[in-house]
Amino acid sequence: MNSAAARGIEAGSVDSQLADLAAASLAKEAGAQGAGGIGFEGVTVAYKGSIVLADFTLAVRPGEVLALIGPSGSGKTTALRAVAGFVRPVAGRVSVGGRDVTDLPPHARGIGMVVQNYALFPHMRVAENVAFGLRARHAPETEVRAQVESCLAMVGMAAFGRRYPRELSGGQQQRVAIARALAIRPDVLLLDEPLSALDAQIRHAMIEELARLHRSLPALTVLYVTHDQSEALTLADRIGILRDGRLRALGPSRELYRRPPNRFAAEFLGGANLLPVVIETPDAGNGFSEVRFGTTRLRALRPEGAAAGETRLLCIRPHNLTFVPGDPAANTVLARVHEVRWKGELHDLTLEAEGRTLRLASVPLRAPPEPGAVVSAYFAPDEATLLADEGDG
Ligand SMILES: Nc1ncnc2c1ncn2[C@@H]1O[C@H](COP(=O)(O)OP(=O)(O)O)[C@@H](O)[C@H]1O
Ligand SMILES: [Mg+2]
Repeated sequence: MNSAAARGIEAGSVDSQLADLAAASLAKEAGAQGAGGIGFEGVTVAYKGSIVLADFTLAVRPGEVLALIGPSGSGKTTALRAVAGFVRPVAGRVSVGGRDVTDLPPHARGIGMVVQNYALFPHMRVAENVAFGLRARHAPETEVRAQVESCLAMVGMAAFGRRYPRELSGGQQQRVAIARALAIRPDVLLLDEPLSALDAQIRHAMIEELARLHRSLPALTVLYVTHDQSEALTLADRIGILRDGRLRALGPSRELYRRPPNRFAAEFLGGANLLPVVIETPDAGNGFSEVRFGTTRLRALRPEGAAAGETRLLCIRPHNLTFVPGDPAANTVLARVHEVRWKGELHDLTLEAEGRTLRLASVPLRAPPEPGAVVSAYFAPDEATLLADEGDG
């Protein structure tokens, strides 16, 4: 994300400065408690005999934001529930802050959790909602009050303590839910699609706020579940991709986007042109392979263990295809323009090359080509990855 822009937007707001202060003081205390990562070791969860999370192994580092993404039903919520203690694995261990919590009840795990649908207590005022976890732990009243104030300030809701949840918008309710989760000073925060019930504009603002929150609480480990790849790419240090209860990809967000390890990861993280190619020269020097796409010779990043004659899928993101050659080493694809769509921020073109359809996304073009025109499209060899051609997997 663009943190400078986020800061810029907040700069004038006294509320947000208060929020930063409050967050900083909380961060100190969280740091003093020792930061906690999250460990899954061979965790398997089954409902009525059917396995929905299979041999799941993942280490979320202390202070890291890790996004777990995947289609609906892929086991994301189940993974969170295993950490929170709401579901018991049939095999494997779960740890929080290096401590094995597999056999501990939820309340003994010291975890904050926020779910999609607010889940505030409707009959309690905002401040009482936020105080709930601390009161349940019999914290002294002075501490409860201070902590409620600081957590509400942190999410920009200091002025709303006396409201009832029904008197708040969806975005405000979700802020309160986050304040409530943070009130017990957890080392670990679990977020289950916290923004998916909000409309697009508020979601956008909330992503920025969550990013700011984490900058102020750098010791807080966050496991963020979403089906929205742009939320994950914006917020997360690393992303894990689940499919059918299995971890299919894991890596630093940017790297996973630029160099997806398989077709599912490539397509799940954003638009991807996937062109069937044949490897001609596995090692063409400088870390590249030379491949043939129909009759067109192209260079792409050399995959591990590639042999001449093998088929692969060449993955190139639509925004990495351009009409400007730029680099003399750029690949050239001769294509016929099929469709030209102007979408305000970009031009979205459908091209046809070697009997395949290609998407090219460009900043708005002054003179876009006409449908039917034959054009050269270019892309840099180091923006092109070669994936195993494994059907839809
Ligand atoms: N309490 C439950 N009883 C039976 N099946 C469940 C239960 N909760 C989830 N499932 C099933 O487990 C699978 C994974 O669910 P879930 O973890 O909620 O997926 P996600 O959060 O990725 O959408 C789904 O097939 C879902 O139908
Ligand atoms: Mg879910």
